[in-house]
Order: sequence, then structure tokens, then C-alpha cells
Amino acid sequence: MAQNGVAQSDRSSLHGQWSSRFAFVLAVSGSAVGLGNIWKFPYIAGQNGGGAFVLVYLFCVFCVGLPIMMSEVLLGRRGRRNPVSTMALLGEEESGTAAWGLVGASGAIAGFLILSFYSVIAGWTVAYIFKSMSGAFADPTAASVGAVFGSIAGSVEESGFWHTLFLGATIVLVALGVERGIERAVKFMMPALFIIMLVLLGYSMNMGEFERGFNFMFEPDFSKLSSQMILAAMGQAFFTLSIGMGAVMAYGAYLPQDASIVRTSFAVVCVDTAIAVLAGLVIFPIVFANDLDPTSGPGLIFQTLPLAFGQMPGGMYVAALFFLLLAFAALTSAISLMEPAVVWLMEVRDFSRPVAASLVGLVIWSLGFLTVLSFNTLSDFTFLKGTFFDNIDFLTSNIMLPLGGLAITVFCGWVMCTQSSVSELDPEAGSSYEIWRLLSRYVAPVALILVFLNAIGVFA
Ligand code: PHE
Repeated sequence: MAQNGVAQSDRSSLHGQWSSRFAFVLAVSGSAVGLGNIWKFPYIAGQNGGGAFVLVYLFCVFCVGLPIMMSEVLLGRRGRRNPVSTMALLGEEESGTAAWGLVGASGAIAGFLILSFYSVIAGWTVAYIFKSMSGAFADPTAASVGAVFGSIAGSVEESGFWHTLFLGATIVLVALGVERGIERAVKFMMPALFIIMLVLLGYSMNMGEFERGFNFMFEPDFSKLSSQMILAAMGQAFFTLSIGMGAVMAYGAYLPQDASIVRTSFAVVCVDTAIAVLAGLVIFPIVFANDLDPTSGPGLIFQTLPLAFGQMPGGMYVAALFFLLLAFAALTSAISLMEPAVVWLMEVRDFSRPVAASLVGLVIWSLGFLTVLSFNTLSDFTFLKGTFFDNIDFLTSNIMLPLGGLAITVFCGWVMCTQSSVSELDPEAGSSYEIWRLLSRYVAPVALILVFLNAIGVFA
């Protein structure tokens, strides 16, 4: 029972429940696994010098990300509303103020902003399905693959077209409200993606500079540690786990009361981490074998993987299948980026699902052109952190998500009464509850605050 007497079981979701615990794990993994693992993790690790970054990243994922993911699921299931109303409702119950709803609102805005660039990159992966099939990567050299990438990212029309196509698909799926049916697709897609990654790993081990790639990722060079790098690692942990913006909270709202939050969250975090590490192990050996630059940024996978595919028997088809699966993985993440804002408009403003999805989609589509242009016409127009893309990415991943996460962990660890969190995490109770509580109350908030203070130069 919560303080004011609302038993959590009295509240049911406005939109039904997941069919099983497994369905929930699939949906949250669908949200978590995406471009963040395969596109972003390798290039951010590359830009930040490898090993030391990876180590900090793993700490952030398990000691900060995991407890926050559990907290988000817990809040979602307890509130059983969209993230804005859930935070307002629980804030009211636990501390007498609905102002906590702001956390949900800023998360929905972060989702908007992230999807605006996410859709552009996902558009490139869709373009790559067709490029692969047309034989553009037969007999590839680093130069020819770079030229293909340049012709897509460098063209407003091309990049804008694929962005429109990808976002259009996202809007249609969200409008149809089939995201809960997506779990069925995820069930096949994720293992398939994993298998292709293993095939690629085999290639990297044989043809790439595997040892160099491996050492780059796992031999920490602590001279590379810097405040900005630690912030980037924290940001990447939030981005890849889909936490800090309400996506997981929105999905938690449909979680059956008897499902274990600890075990489901742990499973998702392990799957997500395994795929990111695998992606790094595939990509860096290819980077080094072809004298490419690990710090080259957002084009990294688009300039490396085709080199591997081009040298495999039937590589054309394997490449097309890989980019298709990656586009699907991105789609399941994109849906979750839109979900909080859409459900909020539906519940609060009484819009129908299609209207809410179209409205949100239109704003995101327009914003997306800032990213499209960042790789061509406006690539030299830089301010603060770089191009528009760099700034939107920095603002969302490195500031908004970690701040959202800080608010969530403070709420669960300090504001919410113990009884409430015990009653949600109860089925497993015991030591996992104690560990969660320790991480939520002390480790996660302290780590986040230190990372922020450090980044703004307080300790310099
Ligand atoms: N986690 C997703 C990925 O790795 C991106 C995402 C971020 C999705 C935040 C939802 C919320 O691709």
C-alpha cells in the first residue's frame, strides 16, 4: 500500500497488458537494441580511444543504467499511465506534488529530439539495403565504400528521402497501435541479427586485425580518461538502454503485476551489452586491417561493414539482410521513442492515435532536416559541440537522458516510501532489493552528479 492508500493492484493500465513476461522482455529489448549498439557504440568508443571508454561505459551500464531501468519499470507499472501522468500521479501520492510530471514531459521532448536524428541514420541503413542489392559493394575498397556513403549522407535529397521513408513507417506503425504486436517480429529478428553478427565476427577474426581490434576495445589506456569522455560513456549507457526518457516507463505500464522487474531488466541489459560489444569486436578489426580511422565518427559502420560483406561468398545478400535487420531493430527503437509523446497526447488531449502519431511525426520529420543538412550543406556550420546533429545528440544523450535518470533514481530511492518500492519489487525481494536500493539511493545519483560536475569543470 502506498501512503495514501492506493494499492498498486487497484490500478490497471488503460491499454491492457503484455501477454507474458517474455513479451515484455522482447519489447524492451526491441527498444534498447538498435542503432545505439551497432552504429553509435563503435564510433563513440572509437572517438574516445577504446578500452578506457569501454570500461567506464560498462560501469555506467551496470551500476547506474540497470538500477534506473528497474526504477523506470517499477514506476511505469505502478502508475500504469503515460510517463507524464505516471510521474505526476506518483509524485502526488508520494510527495504531494504533481510537479514530478515535468520529468515525464522533458523525457517525451527528449524522445522527439532523439528520433529526429535517429530517423536520418536509420534511413541510411534502409538505403544500404538497396545499395547492397544493386551490387554497389562488390569488390569494395575503402575508397569506393566511402564514396557510396558520401553519395547518400552528402545528398540532401537522398538522405531526406530515406529519412522520410523511415519516419513514415514509424508513424504508420505507431498510428496503427501495433507496437505491442511487434513483439512477434522481435522474437525472430533479434536472434537473426545476432547470428549475422556472429558470422561477421568470424570474418573479423580471420580477415581483420582481430588482436589489434580486441586490444583497442579491452586494453584500457587511462591517459585517455577525460571528463568529456566519462560524460560520453554515461550518455551512451542511457542512450543504448533507452532509459531516462520514459520509453521503458511507458512499456512498464503494461507489465503484469506478478512479473519480476529485477530479472526482466537484467536480461535486457545483458542482451543489449552483448550486442554492443559484439559490434565493436566486428568493426575495429576491419577498421585496422583497412587502415581506416577509428575516430571517423557517425559514418564508421557504413564505411567498414561493406568491406567485410564484399569479400564474403554471397556477401551481397548477407549485407542486404544485415541492413534490413538493422533497419528493423531501429524501427522497434523508433516506435518506443515516439510512444511516450503519442500516448500522452491521447490520454491528456483526447487525440486519436493516428492524429497524435501524425502530429508528433510531422514535428520530428521537420526537425530531422537539421540532421540531414548536418552532413552536407550545413556541415561547416558549427557551434557549441559541432553541427546541429552533434548538438542535438549531445543535448539529448549526454544531458537530458542522464538528468531524467537522475530525477527517476532520486524519486525511487529517496522520495518514494520504502513500502511502495518493496511492494513492486517484492516477488524477488531479498538481496536484489537491497542491491537495487543501494545503487538507486547512493551509487547512481552520486555517480551522475559527479559526472555532471566534472563535465562542467568543477573539479578542473
Ligand atoms: N536504445 C535505442 C538504441 O540503442 C535508442 C533509444 C534511446 C530508444 C532512447 C528509446 C529511447 O538504438
